[in-house]
Amino acid sequence: MSLQTAKKIHAAVAEAGSNVATLVAKYGTPFYLYSAEVIRQQYRTLRAALAAEGLAARTHIYYAVKANDRLGILRVLGMLGAGADLVSIGEHHRATRANIAPTKQVFSGVGKSRAELMEALQNKIGQINVESLPELHMIADCAQALGMVARVTVRLNPDTRAGGHAYISTGSAEHKFGLSPRSAAAAIAEAQASPHLEAVGVAIHIGSQIVDIAPFAAAFARVNSFLAEIGFDPNVIDLGGGFAIDYTAGEPIFNLADYAKTVKTAFGARRATLFLEPGRFLVAHAGVLVFQTLIEKQAAHIRWVIGDMAMNDLLRPALYQAQHRLSVLSTLKGEASTANIAGPVCESTDRLEGQYALPPCPEGTLLALHDVGAYGSVMSMAYNARRLPPEVLLDGTSVHTLRRAITAQDFLAFED
Ligand code: LLP
Repeated sequence: MSLQTAKKIHAAVAEAGSNVATLVAKYGTPFYLYSAEVIRQQYRTLRAALAAEGLAARTHIYYAVKANDRLGILRVLGMLGAGADLVSIGEHHRATRANIAPTKQVFSGVGKSRAELMEALQNKIGQINVESLPELHMIADCAQALGMVARVTVRLNPDTRAGGHAYISTGSAEHKFGLSPRSAAAAIAEAQASPHLEAVGVAIHIGSQIVDIAPFAAAFARVNSFLAEIGFDPNVIDLGGGFAIDYTAGEPIFNLADYAKTVKTAFGARRATLFLEPGRFLVAHAGVLVFQTLIEKQAAHIRWVIGDMAMNDLLRPALYQAQHRLSVLSTLKGEASTANIAGPVCESTDRLEGQYALPPCPEGTLLALHDVGAYGSVMSMAYNARRLPPEVLLDGTSVHTLRRAITAQDFLAFED
């Protein structure tokens, strides 16, 4: 059951044997509400697109845990067969706790500490995606100390411009991510010569919220020319994530069929196993953030609706000027007019991007922000001594608490 409109949210909650008012009474607002079924649908849609090009058997999906690392979400994906793409050892702990085997985990990231690398090797994480020559040397040191051989891929920076916002673009030459072709070639040569490293392949990740296929095609071509230049026939080619979702209408906007065709055209003739690392695509549509209004006020010509959801519950609008669709879950009377929506935090950026047409909103009007399943709760913080919102998963006919609220009182317990 999708969560794309107010009606569908109510229906999904009803199917799970509850109703929105009951959830509000139990959890308080704001809270994150997810649908396991939407995640499964997204996963299956992606697998079907790969299967249509005959790529199913040789392509593995490593879910980018950073998009949403709640154990209950990881379990849904793990059960579907997904591995995990990690950016910290903490994410490794979470993925492992959710029963995703370390051998099905890939450790990416531009700044891994020696302690993290030691633990990654000791715990037999399947692959480390290397982002610099110094990191390669650290991995070799750690592997030597442990008497092991580390399986590494080298993340090539393909110098491709892509991504929905400058802050989530990662594949240009001047970005901190990956190695230039020259350094990547040196890294592969060093790994091949080292008794403690096994160069299993190459990796790329060019950005996030990428709508067009062209940047992928360009990056894939760069991977192939790089492999030809250095005469390397890899076992693994990790293509990263970055598939866009539609924040304006919730429609499919990323052409998976074209993407799969492009992958096949670029790598069909190679023997390498292909890894994908989607995050947003799998989980964004699965989540809504339910909150309620506190007051309305007028400031000069602006109508402000102040809700109990703030930038620290959902940072994307303040950080990337990201717009999320809104549904009204309560029944409202009166004519809609343009409103700006803001939260209680003492920052002018604590407001939703754009404007919304809303009828008068009496105190306690329930609203839901859409497409917050990815990079929502994981980026939340307790600024202004606010609680971290609770999270709830609808799965068929049941409602699970994924994580209870972490309150200001809970935080007090960590301080003297
Ligand atoms: N692989 C690597 C190495 C990554 O760095 C990322 C995301 C992914 C995979 C997954 O990308 P996705 O499929 O989700 O686009 N907080 C931002 C997005 C940051 C993405 C960082 N890296 C946002 O809210 O839009």
